[in-house]
Amino acid sequence: MDKSKRVIVTGGTGYIGSHTVVELQQKGYEAIIIDNLSNSDISVVDGIEKITGIRPRFENFDLCNRKKLFRLMESMPGTDAIIHFAAYKAVGESVREPLRYYHNNLTTLLNLLEVMEKYNVPSLVFSSSCTVYGQPERLPVTEEDPVQPATSPYGNTKQMGEEIIRDMMYARSGLQAVSLRYFNPIGAHPSGHIGELPAGMPENLVPFITQTAIGIRDQLKVFGVDYNTPDGSCIRDYLHVTDLAKAHIAALERLLDQKNKTNYEVFNLGTGQGVSVLEAIRTFEEATGEKVNYTITGRREGDIEKIWADPSLANKELGWKTEITLAESLRSAWKWENNYRSIKRENGEK
Ligand code: UD1
Repeated sequence: MDKSKRVIVTGGTGYIGSHTVVELQQKGYEAIIIDNLSNSDISVVDGIEKITGIRPRFENFDLCNRKKLFRLMESMPGTDAIIHFAAYKAVGESVREPLRYYHNNLTTLLNLLEVMEKYNVPSLVFSSSCTVYGQPERLPVTEEDPVQPATSPYGNTKQMGEEIIRDMMYARSGLQAVSLRYFNPIGAHPSGHIGELPAGMPENLVPFITQTAIGIRDQLKVFGVDYNTPDGSCIRDYLHVTDLAKAHIAALERLLDQKNKTNYEVFNLGTGQGVSVLEAIRTFEEATGEKVNYTITGRREGDIEKIWADPSLANKELGWKTEITLAESLRSAWKWENNYRSIKRENGEK
């Protein structure tokens, strides 16, 4: 019998990482998580086990620690691929702490690329972001559209990450990689066992909506209704995190089955539908029956007015498309918010 393929998932206890570990295990892959829990919780490993019945191997260390990483790799020859999620991702914080962002997000990637070469791990799937497009001139945005100067150190680490990978793949024809440019991932696993765990005040819209609806936050601020959009609020492309996780399996299998056209490829991952902030709030209210107390305030610095994906390349080449609707995605986020709060209460936390 074929041995099951072994895939390292960095940041595997994080939001998108944990959902991807579930999908990997459900497809028979052996997933090994490396995470230093800097923005996640060890209980996520329990959540994964509850869903799949398999407890993934979990390695708790910082990927900047080259020695530890190399020691681990020496102990497990024959690793087939790396899916690299581990990174800092708060835009505002990155503006205040640029060195932390450059150091962490780039050192981890450099170490992993070195590992690929030294330990014969041929395949890499990299978490990138639609932030690389800035405000595109035409919509929907395709992979052919130009990458624009980054507006934050966070965004710059994604652009630089893509460039470093591209250069390395050019130099090493035996290695191969895919960068996935995510639009806006939302929602949680339908089981309610894993979801997003924003530390402190959420920066992203959906966790802010669910925390306001449950009463942790008094009021959601809608950052501007004076944009050039039908209702004046910004437009994004929100996709369910399980759909997004499945795209990672599709990208991985494209590499493992050698179906890739070149040894470095890039794909947009979105629904193809633009949704405004006000529409997202209204859809949440309709889908859950909960009211969201919100107020309109001024624009948030650095926000893009409107962006949504042309996902047709991923549809065609990865055989992937989103399946979960916005209403379902928001319902799953609400279910998770409720479950998570009751888990915290059971543990005696606030
Ligand atoms: C942001 C980053 C993006 C990054 C992603 C990571 C920018 C410009 N983009 O995406 O690079 O990959 O986070 O998570 O910062 N909103 C409100 N009130 C809130 C929160 C958000 O009105 O309390 C609005 C925002 O103005 C925006 C929309 O909701 O129009 C979505 O915001 P958010 O969830 O933060 O995602 P992005 O800004 O798209």
